[in-house]
Amino acid sequence: MMNNIIAVCPGSFDPVTVGHIDIISRAAQMFSKVVVVVMHNSAKNPCFSVEEKVEMLRKATAELENVEVDAYSGLLAEYTKKIGAGAIVKGLRAMSDFEYEFQMALTNKKLNPATETVFLTTRAENMYLSSSMVKQIGSMGGDISEFVPKMIHDKIVERLTERK
Ligand code: PNS
Repeated sequence: MMNNIIAVCPGSFDPVTVGHIDIISRAAQMFSKVVVVVMHNSAKNPCFSVEEKVEMLRKATAELENVEVDAYSGLLAEYTKKIGAGAIVKGLRAMSDFEYEFQMALTNKKLNPATETVFLTTRAENMYLSSSMVKQIGSMGGDISEFVPKMIHDKIVERLTERK
């Protein structure tokens, strides 16, 4: 490994998608350690509990040796300080992600100047993919098998179809 930097991959992960896993595994090749952290996004009303999200992320990242999963309910900048993270890694999809992500990156830099936000470009095939799409399709009985990791697919479908 070229560096000794701890990177954090924060998100709502409601639920985790193959797009998230792509970004996490690419971050794991760039940084010595990656901590995936389930955060609370006050703008969103979660479908899955924090415990379920952590469990799903652990299963989906089990093969990635330098990846850990955690949860935090405070500010991301506090968390990065607490664990000494040098980078926040986020995936960027369409232009529509940009304004919000840019604002968060600047805010996090202000709150903790020691951490740099790094954006990884999404793979073209995940450009359209989002947790909200997965929730909509899954809860209406559509096929989400291409959008979520195999080992947690059934669990996600079960939870999405029971909420009616
Ligand atoms: O997956 P999401 O919902 O796009 O991720 C957004 C998230 C959870 C990373 C963001 O809302 C966040 O960092 N929340 C924690 C609270 C915080 O630090 N807010 C200020 C960030 S500018």
